[in-house]
Amino acid sequence: MNVSLTEKTAKTLRIEQRIGELVGEMTVAEKIGQMNQVCLVDHAVPEDARVALRSGRIGSVLNVVNVEIVNELQRIAVEESRLGIPLLIGRDVIHGFQTVMPIPLGQAATWNPTLLKEGARFSAQEAAASGVNWTFAPMIDISRDPRWGRIAESFGEDPHLTSELGVAMVRGFQGDDLSTRGSIAACAKHFAGYGDCESGRDYATTNIPENELRNVHLRPFRATVDAGVATIMASFSDLNGIPATASEFLMRQVLRDEWQFDGFVVSDFDSISQLCVHGLTENDKDAALQAVTAGIDMEMAGACYTEHLESLIDEGRVDIGVVDELVGNILRVKFRLGLFEDPYTNPSDFPSKPNADAMRAAKTAALQSVVMLKNDHDVLPLSCGNLRSIAVIGPLADAPYEQLGTWIFDGDPALSITCLQGVHDMVGDAVDVRFVRAMDTSRSRDTASFDEAVRAAQETDLSILFLGEESILTGEAHSRADIDLPGAQVELIRRIRKAGKKVIVVILAGRPLTLTNIVDEVDAILYAWHPGTMGGTAIAELLFGIESPSGKLPATMPRMVGQIPIYYNQKNTGKPPRPHELVFIDDIAEQAPQTSFGMFAFHLDAGFSPLFPFGYGLSYAKFEYKNIRTSIHEVEIGDKLTVSAELTNNGEVGAVEVAQLYVRDLVASVTRPVRELKGFKRVYVESGQTITVEFELQTSDLAFYGRDYKLVTEPGEFRVWIGGSSYADLQSEFQVIARQRGA
Ligand code: BGC
Repeated sequence: MNVSLTEKTAKTLRIEQRIGELVGEMTVAEKIGQMNQVCLVDHAVPEDARVALRSGRIGSVLNVVNVEIVNELQRIAVEESRLGIPLLIGRDVIHGFQTVMPIPLGQAATWNPTLLKEGARFSAQEAAASGVNWTFAPMIDISRDPRWGRIAESFGEDPHLTSELGVAMVRGFQGDDLSTRGSIAACAKHFAGYGDCESGRDYATTNIPENELRNVHLRPFRATVDAGVATIMASFSDLNGIPATASEFLMRQVLRDEWQFDGFVVSDFDSISQLCVHGLTENDKDAALQAVTAGIDMEMAGACYTEHLESLIDEGRVDIGVVDELVGNILRVKFRLGLFEDPYTNPSDFPSKPNADAMRAAKTAALQSVVMLKNDHDVLPLSCGNLRSIAVIGPLADAPYEQLGTWIFDGDPALSITCLQGVHDMVGDAVDVRFVRAMDTSRSRDTASFDEAVRAAQETDLSILFLGEESILTGEAHSRADIDLPGAQVELIRRIRKAGKKVIVVILAGRPLTLTNIVDEVDAILYAWHPGTMGGTAIAELLFGIESPSGKLPATMPRMVGQIPIYYNQKNTGKPPRPHELVFIDDIAEQAPQTSFGMFAFHLDAGFSPLFPFGYGLSYAKFEYKNIRTSIHEVEIGDKLTVSAELTNNGEVGAVEVAQLYVRDLVASVTRPVRELKGFKRVYVESGQTITVEFELQTSDLAFYGRDYKLVTEPGEFRVWIGGSSYADLQSEFQVIARQRGA
């Protein structure tokens, strides 16, 4: 047998043995203590916390990142409690610690798992240097609704992309071995369906049929479990009538029985007690009963377990065997982290903060995250040689805090290179840069400074507008019903436009915004999300062509909010839209007979297409795909084939393209999406060069959950596309055939 496998098995057995021994020694109160996570302050250890730690009544602490306090907490737990069990120290390290990477949605636009892994590694190291050993990331909720403020924390709408990126982040946080220095436990959240909240209103109800749940929303969770994610967080939301925190279906049947997950599940913040608010339980005691029964191993920031679990056990309503199992799950992660061997943190064991490598990773991530949506007449890239002056305008041009985005508890805005700074650094003295902020915030309706902005636009060669949303407009509980550019920004663009010079807009935002009312008013649009610490440098390098934009949309951009939910991998319906036959609202005859003949699934006022589709993004290169082929026309179930196409760069600069592979199962026992992403590759193509992009497809990649909710690969005809977005039109077909009997 493979040596490392033997070692791994031996280590696992040792851990299981130690868990058994430790649980055997624990009192009921100590067991419940392990299931209790408390929120403490960062500057001192309060006396009541000391007492609780000494008596083993706290298993984990969140939101303490002062390393001296963390070490003191660990010392009390390890040296002053009876069994000396170390603590899990949890923190939301979502897209960086001090050094902030682009928001996760921006990172998703890179389509670059390696980069996400690297970013997570730096974040883990920075966090670990502060004593953190557990992050509540990655968030892998499928998000098809840009109104939802937490879309910023997600990887967008696609299960395959989200799975790949979620796994990459888990690997970055956890490293090859959780016990190595700089590795922290990851937490895939929020299990499950949270991103499907009605009307994008955070915490709102979700109703997701099992077919959709398994084929779309659960897939990234399955992928991270298979990749060894240490923990899972239950969602706040109500899924099909049962809040996730009380869902035996999710936590027991799916997670444990079907997927064999052996880490632990943490509730969301106080979500056990909220079972009462949901109207599921009468009181906290019932809530504790339901959560324990469902298999929520640890309660985050609530007191249902600490106050009621013991009496539930005494009354025989909770079996001590169940508690032992849940406690064992938590201890397993502590053992895997090596905390029993060394619970303390010595910051000098870690690279200094901030460090140049982390900043470089943040810059690369920002560079690759920017999506170019429009570039009329190749107005971009700019060249210092051709410019004497530019106007830099807008509330987000010089906003060190806002460019960091949501969830940056530990981010340091003092490290931010703003867009204005980036442009200055790029052009030096060669170009005169005139900056007019024009609006205090993106939401401002005050137009008093617009005249000054227009003057700057008139008196310079061109304007670059830095617009969008501040970070507070996305994130938890920060959803919007109207996702146009807020405040007077549209008017600002129109006024600048009238100055008659070229207008370039860079949008910093935590969600896809509806840009229909500005897209025709400007010459170029770079969509930069909230790009993080190094955003300004990256954006300037793209504006001035040091690199070509290579980001691609991880979420569809709707024309108008009424199209939401809108996503590329929709079903065909019985009446799919045919563009040339659409009748728009202005063209409807005054009176027409009622008929369903010739009617299609579209909106009279929006058609059916988005403003920009999933996977879309322009480049300074000119890419062309040709000659798609499949290695074989018939593939037996269990085998594989390759799908390839030629990709030529007809442009004048070499650049990276994200080539994408989509598949459609033409006929199946349940209806399947019109396209599904099955592969993607970032490839560099020199100017004038043609390369072959090749994707391997296993028939298992075509599997889906069928009528009985079991994973199945069905024989039949499949269509494939390769191209630069979900609108790729270069297609081929192949056939999956059942394996010959006896073969
Ligand atoms: C969020 C979680 C987060 C937790 C701890 C909750 O409100 O939903 O995603 O990890 O707080 O900060």
